[in-house]
Amino acid sequence: MSNDPTEETMPPQELQHNIEFEQLLEYLRRSRGFDFTGYKRASLMRRVNKRMHLVGANSYTHYTDYLEVHPEEFARLFDTILINVTAFFRDPSAWEAISSLVIPRILAGKRPGDPIRIWSAGCASGEEAYTLAIVLAEALGIEAFRERVKIYATDVDEEALARARQASYTAREVQSIPHELLAKYFEENNGRFTFHKDLRRSVIFGRHDLIQDAPISRIDLLSCRNTLMYLNTETQARILERLHFALHERGFLFLGKAETLLTYNTTFIPVDLKRRIFAKVARGNLRDRLLVMARTGSEEAVNHLVGHVRIRESAFDAAPVAQVVVDFGGTLTLANERSRGLFNIASTDLGRPLQDLQLSYRPAELRSCIDRAYTERREIILKDVAWSIGVSETTYFDVYVTPLMDAGGSILGASVTFIDTTTAKRIADEHQRSARELETAYEELQSTNEELETTNEELQSTVEELETTSEELQSTNEELETMNEELQSTNEELETVNEELRRRSDELKRVNTFLESILGSLRGAVVVVDPEFLILVWNPKAEDLWGLRAEEVRSKNLLNLDIGLPVERLKPALRSCLSGEVPFQDLSLDATNRRGKAIVCRITCTPMTSADAAIIGVILMMNEEADGSTGERGGPPSAAAP
Ligand SMILES: C[S@@+](CC[C@H](N)C(=O)[O-])C[C@H]1O[C@@H](n2cnc3c(N)ncnc32)[C@H](O)[C@@H]1O
Repeated sequence: MSNDPTEETMPPQELQHNIEFEQLLEYLRRSRGFDFTGYKRASLMRRVNKRMHLVGANSYTHYTDYLEVHPEEFARLFDTILINVTAFFRDPSAWEAISSLVIPRILAGKRPGDPIRIWSAGCASGEEAYTLAIVLAEALGIEAFRERVKIYATDVDEEALARARQASYTAREVQSIPHELLAKYFEENNGRFTFHKDLRRSVIFGRHDLIQDAPISRIDLLSCRNTLMYLNTETQARILERLHFALHERGFLFLGKAETLLTYNTTFIPVDLKRRIFAKVARGNLRDRLLVMARTGSEEAVNHLVGHVRIRESAFDAAPVAQVVVDFGGTLTLANERSRGLFNIASTDLGRPLQDLQLSYRPAELRSCIDRAYTERREIILKDVAWSIGVSETTYFDVYVTPLMDAGGSILGASVTFIDTTTAKRIADEHQRSARELETAYEELQSTNEELETTNEELQSTVEELETTSEELQSTNEELETMNEELQSTNEELETVNEELRRRSDELKRVNTFLESILGSLRGAVVVVDPEFLILVWNPKAEDLWGLRAEEVRSKNLLNLDIGLPVERLKPALRSCLSGEVPFQDLSLDATNRRGKAIVCRITCTPMTSADAAIIGVILMMNEEADGSTGERGGPPSAAAP
């Protein structure tokens, strides 16, 4: 919420405009160290607007952006804001007053050879500082000037200071200098006039911001002309405080023609109000004021002082706290309105001895306190003094007994101030009670707090545990994911293997079918046995011949079969084949086929070899011999030639 009532009634657009302007000022302060917030808004805005118009910026925000992109614009803006208008002997009558009134008094207050310190604050391009130099050199003589005078010339504007240091001016710029002084103090060269170099050494230029920088001290004459008028009232008042401090006890202040503020200022007294020349007054010291008045001797100043004394008396009378003043002889000298009302002091009591008045012992024994304040030369404070006006009503005071001393330390009397502390005391009591309650509440809160802290710690540890578990779960998850991936790849491999197997199995089936069809197509019976004589193959013709199905005989020992063939007689032939002694063996055996018919069976035994030529069984080809065929029936088997 704003404290400024105008802000509340301001149209929103204007308010926004002002906010943007303040932001621009803040930007200038931050980026360049120039604080323009204390300058009068209307004229400051006018000058900023001028620059904005020239660069084509249509708002303060836009102009701030422009400054950021074009830093060279800062110098142009400052040049526009800081008006450097000045002249030698500006307002000539004021300079006459400086020469005739002020400088003689400064010199009178000094011993021969004492330094003289001058300050030209807001000196612009130096004309004022060199005018001061001329005036003082004229008063002292050039030699003494060089030895005794120091002129500090300061400004916030570096460019103006650079011009001032050059001390070189055009004919137009020096035209306000009286001819003889121009000839005496300047050298002419190519139509320019330069202030004498050896006198220039007494003029010291430097950058100084009146708003932000500490003042120079012990100044005899301070010229701050046409600079304060650009600043708002509060800033002017702040700077005046510093200028007051800067001045020597008997120093003088020289302002510009348009600068009127000091009419209301109590720390300076006019020497020549019209010419804006003032003398410093030590703050609050009436006696000094009278002395200054005597020094200045002006009627204007006396009137000013009388008015000032009246204001002080009214202020004392109107003070919100009861106050009385007793002189060193014990006489009641002053009693303000509030004290008169409170303690029944009549106007006739003023001038009477304090000891004759009830006030001397009620509400507090004052005389001993006053004596103590005198002896110890310090303020004596009585706390919470009770004062009962009616039956029930009690008022409390803090009583301050202050010794009053002049500048030399002599005691003039005592001021007694009664500060009503009833409300403060009530509030303090209430405060104490509340404090006690608060303390209890605080203790309870503390124990609750401790509990909470424990709970919090537990929670924290739970949270930590949860976090650990979560991390573990995450890693397990990652492991599972890896395993899953591995499984997936194994699965893929298995599927490939499976496919291969399926392919082989198909191949095998195909080969088997092919083999079976060969075996089925053969005209003779074929039996294959392994080295243990266990039957591996028994083709359909063998089924036909011996009356047993392949399933019935597979894996059975051939030599154990009862099929109408004297199988035991096969044994030697099978053995010979298995041993590899002969490539084959033929033999004919008498047998009985499945239909019970006696037949002669011609059998050829051939060793069955593997791919690596190992004998892995015997192939027996069996055929029923036609009648009358020759052969060794039941005889020993014939071996073929290898
Ligand atoms: C109009 S000139 C006055 C020059 C001279 N004093 C005269 O009266 O002829 C005002 C000067 O005050 C300076 N100035 C403005 N603000 C200032 C500040 N905050 N501190 C010091 N100088 C400042 C400006 O730079 C400018 O040079």
